[in-house]
Amino acid sequence: MNALAIPLTDESVDTVVANSVLHLISNPQKVLREICRVLKRGGAFICVDDVPGKVAETPYDNTQYLEVVNAFYREYWNRLGTHGIYPQKYSWKFDRNACCDSLFGKKTEKLIERNCAYEISLGDVFLPRMIGRGFSDQTNVPQGLHEKVIAELLSTFRQTYGNDFTEIKFRGIEQNISVTVYHKI
Ligand SMILES: C[S@@+](CC[C@H](N)C(=O)[O-])C[C@H]1O[C@@H](n2cnc3c(N)ncnc32)[C@H](O)[C@@H]1O
Repeated sequence: MNALAIPLTDESVDTVVANSVLHLISNPQKVLREICRVLKRGGAFICVDDVPGKVAETPYDNTQYLEVVNAFYREYWNRLGTHGIYPQKYSWKFDRNACCDSLFGKKTEKLIERNCAYEISLGDVFLPRMIGRGFSDQTNVPQGLHEKVIAELLSTFRQTYGNDFTEIKFRGIEQNISVTVYHKI
C-alpha cells in the first residue's frame, strides 16, 4: 500500500514499523501523519532510519561490487533518459523527532548492538530492490519500460561479468542500530 495514503481506518492498527523507509519518501511528514492517524491509542510506531546517499565505510575491498552497482544504476537511468524519464531523488530535510514529538505522546530509544562483520551479494539486496522498484527515484517509471530495461541490463551484465554476477559480494561492518519507539497516548 502507499504510505502516503494508507487505506486503513483511523485508530485501527496496534503497531507500525518503518525500517529504512522515511528517507525514501517524497513527503515524510505526510507519512508520519498517516501512521499516527491509523494507530490506536496505546499503539506504537517503531522507526529506524537510514541516511540518503550514505556511503558505507568498510575495511574490505568492495571494488568489483561497487563497480557493478554503479554501472547498473547509471546504465538504467541512461536508458530511461532516452525515453525522457529521469531520476527524482528525495533529500531528507525534515526533522523526524520534531515532527514525531508533535504527533505522538511519548518516545523510547533502543540500541541494537551489532558492530559485526557482514556480507551481502548483489542478488541479496541491490538487485531485488532495483528490479522491484524499491528505490524512491524509480517510482514514476512505467512498469513495462522498467521490465524491458531491466531484462536488457541483466542480459548485458551476465555477458560482461559472467552468469553468476549476482553472487558478487559486498563486505562490511554493521553499525549498532538505533531504534525509536513512538507511543500514541
Ligand atoms: C530501503 S527499502 C526498506 C524495505 C524494508 N522495510 C526493509 O527493511 O528491508 C525502502 C522501501 O520503501 C518503499 N517505499 C518507498 N516509497 C513508498 C511509499 N510511498 N509507500 C510505501 N512504501 C514505499 C520501497 O518500495 C522500499 O521497499
